[in-house]
Amino acid sequence: MAYDNPSLTVVTEEVPPGALRWRSPSNIALVKYWGKHGDQLPRNASVSFTLQNAATDTTLHYAPRRESVTGGVDVQLQLAGTPEPKFTARTQTYLKRLLPVYPFLRQLELRIETQNSFPHSAGIASSASGMSALALCLVSLEEQLFEPLPDRAAFLRKASYLARLGSGSACRSVYGGAAVWGQVPELSDSSGAYAVSIAEQLHPTFQSYHDDILLVSRSEKAVSSRAGHGLMDQNPYAPPRYAQANARSREILGVLQRGDTERFGQLLESEALTLHALMMSSQPSYTLIEPNTLHVINLLRQFRSETGHPIYFTLDAGPNVHLLYPEAVAEPTRRFIREHLLPYCEDRMYLADRVGTGPEQLEVNQTTPA
Ligand code: PMV
Repeated sequence: MAYDNPSLTVVTEEVPPGALRWRSPSNIALVKYWGKHGDQLPRNASVSFTLQNAATDTTLHYAPRRESVTGGVDVQLQLAGTPEPKFTARTQTYLKRLLPVYPFLRQLELRIETQNSFPHSAGIASSASGMSALALCLVSLEEQLFEPLPDRAAFLRKASYLARLGSGSACRSVYGGAAVWGQVPELSDSSGAYAVSIAEQLHPTFQSYHDDILLVSRSEKAVSSRAGHGLMDQNPYAPPRYAQANARSREILGVLQRGDTERFGQLLESEALTLHALMMSSQPSYTLIEPNTLHVINLLRQFRSETGHPIYFTLDAGPNVHLLYPEAVAEPTRRFIREHLLPYCEDRMYLADRVGTGPEQLEVNQTTPA
């Protein structure tokens, strides 16, 4: 690994106990990552908007470890105040994997308190916000125990790299605005190992874009993303798909700079449907969209053709529908959602979100900002 560093060990007696806290948002892919290889490397480039409201707030408590340091990593995780054995085990595996980068992790006792801004049962993946929040805490911990990284860009790049090893798409969440993960010729520092920010390149129209998430179903997914990525290895459409996604990642950069909401929407919707077509053409095949997903899509298309408003949808690896639209049509869109789309949402729930400013470090005892 590029960041491997066996010299990052501590003298345990000299480490005073402490805690670090980050709030990190989720992101929505515009061009989708679907298919990976090697050590969590993407088969194609992807581009996302970082969200504002859907976020994870994570506090990492650390203290010198008292017992033997030969075993794995000593970590306990609480989600919204409740011990979570499943997430604890997953975090343990993740931190163990980071030992070549951060050998000091096995010299500490770690306790993680984490909570999401959205309801746990909302059917919204928290891996991007959760893994990016934890990765940011870890890089802050490195700075606390050793020395500051050269600058903020180096800090965020390392956090992005570490987040990627936890959950691929999480690497895009460490930047506000928008991010690209994977190699794109126009972005000289772009890489499969970490994401880079393209916030500076966003046209003002996209800087204030909305993303309302319609919660069509809050049930857990039948097929995990991990399994879905794996099925791409045998998918006959995989090679042309990777070429298409790379070409679209390049194209959408220009679209985001120009403020071209129409071409943006065409790419967005095709990306969503292509992602689900890849699931349907996998062996074994599976479907994550539900009848209400299609009802929402059809009603949206009708509304768009009647009004001419540039409101387009995208989908994650699940049945929920994201509606993306500019501030200029926020009023009629909200009315349309309330009057026509909420009947297709479980418990009439939706989350109003928008392009966000990115993660922020919080004081450990500070209450979470709204
Ligand atoms: O990061 P993962 O392994 O959970 O995969 C996420 C893939 C999509 O959300 C469907 C697309 C993306 O690029 O975020």
